[in-house]
Amino acid sequence: MIKVLIKGHNFKYDVFELIRSLYEDNNIEFIEDEALVNNQSLLIENNLYKKNETYEVETVIIKEYNIISKSLDNITNVDIKKDNEKKNIKTLVKQSLFNAITKTLNNKPSWGILTGIRPTKIVHDLLDKNINRKEIKDILMNQYKISREKTNLLISIAKRERSFIYPLDKDKFSLYISIPFCPTRCIYCSFPSNSLKKSSSLVNIYIEKLLYEIEKIGQLTKDMKLEAVYIGGGTPTSISNNDLKRIINKIYEVFSKNTFKEFTVEAGRPDTINLELLNMLKSNGVERISINPQTMCNKTLEKIGRNHTREDIIKTYELAKRLGFTINMDLIVGLPEEGINEIEYTMKEIKKLNPDNLTVHTLAIKKASKLMEKERNFKLAMGNDIKEMLKITKQYTKEMKMHPYYLYRQKKILGNYENVGYCKINKECIYNMLIMEEKQTIIAAGAGAVSKIYFPDSNRIQRVPNVKGLNEYIKRNGEMIERKKKHLLTY
Ligand SMILES: C[S@@+](CC[C@H](N)C(=O)[O-])C[C@H]1O[C@@H](n2cnc3c(N)ncnc32)[C@H](O)[C@@H]1O
Ligand code: SF4
Repeated sequence: MIKVLIKGHNFKYDVFELIRSLYEDNNIEFIEDEALVNNQSLLIENNLYKKNETYEVETVIIKEYNIISKSLDNITNVDIKKDNEKKNIKTLVKQSLFNAITKTLNNKPSWGILTGIRPTKIVHDLLDKNINRKEIKDILMNQYKISREKTNLLISIAKRERSFIYPLDKDKFSLYISIPFCPTRCIYCSFPSNSLKKSSSLVNIYIEKLLYEIEKIGQLTKDMKLEAVYIGGGTPTSISNNDLKRIINKIYEVFSKNTFKEFTVEAGRPDTINLELLNMLKSNGVERISINPQTMCNKTLEKIGRNHTREDIIKTYELAKRLGFTINMDLIVGLPEEGINEIEYTMKEIKKLNPDNLTVHTLAIKKASKLMEKERNFKLAMGNDIKEMLKITKQYTKEMKMHPYYLYRQKKILGNYENVGYCKINKECIYNMLIMEEKQTIIAAGAGAVSKIYFPDSNRIQRVPNVKGLNEYIKRNGEMIERKKKHLLTY
């Protein structure tokens, strides 16, 4: 148990997230009185105060009543190129915690004081302020305490992304359609998805409501230009070909004036893909699909409830390749009972297939997943093993002549690592970059879908979420349209 006593500020959430990620421990309790600490607990004291008109933070770590680490930090050393005093003070609090905690760890965490935020956004903000590469590197490494390797990765990804994202245009938008159905539920997943075994009776009415929402979005965005369309989920290809075709055709009908650049369908599960489906997608202008192995080890696929085998992945991939699709594959590093050998095997198999895109996720133990309940039943790789496994994926992507082009982190990700999207030259998925960087409006339809309206003048996003539950969405579909209307009318 880690007990935390903070004084002089209320950045409780950030302090919690940073301690959790650095110690990889969720057992954290905030206390008001150190007398309550027993011999078994680690105590972290973090105290912000004003001295000679500047702010100072002192962090002290105590174990078995002995001080094991200390850091005293002053705000005059904080320089993240922000005028916002609150953000600077928060950075000081996190730096001080980081300085004290890392003295008690064996290795330096790659992501420094970052919690929650999408790291490439920091680089874009600094580039927007015309700060040069050397200075950006310095800020990332010395202020945010990010490792040299991740700093170089961030800068190269952000620079590559800019040619797709800039110039910013208030009138451009992208469209996300949520199909929250899956053949079965995978144990690690917390996405809004409903097993078709239980919810098939709701599919028809859901599609009707979704088509209505798409039509209304068309009216709300009639003066805007659609750039990218992404049908995701869940598993969009788990509904019937005819239903999926109706959705695709509705998009063409409603946005007929728009010549969008990209149309992606997240096919995802190989057990939902066949020739008839692929022909339907191809003849309806869908160029990009994903076929997601997660792993090429049959034993693991069974354990995680995927309902398909390595052989199904190869068969459907080859079918789709022959028809000329641009194909993304998703992998997860750190799946139950997997280690270095399994990742090496998976990457060897993927290399043989040679996809255009590969997204390498690190397993996150999500609250709403079955894995969370059953975590204790499985052996999960940690720290250095995850690091080695990610290194292997990086090496193979290099051999496949891919480059990293988007990156994001999630809470409760094993080893506090990251997810990286790699692709071959000119095979970037524009939508993936747009959703990460939040510099273009994304209008989303369907249960659990979140619209994000971007205001370039203030560099701000307004989130407009749809309700998550199927029944709720079906009942309150009109209200979801009104929510978007309210924000788009002030746009
Ligand atoms: C929206 S999900 C689903 C895509 C599709 N339904 C499928 O399963 O193939 C997108 C990707 O997120 C990744 N993912 C989902 N849950 C995850 C978790 N708990 N940890 C790491 N990656 C996860 C998986 O690689 C998955 O393919
Ligand atoms: S990982 Fe994909 S198929 Fe599995 S439950 Fe999540 S959304 Fe559905």
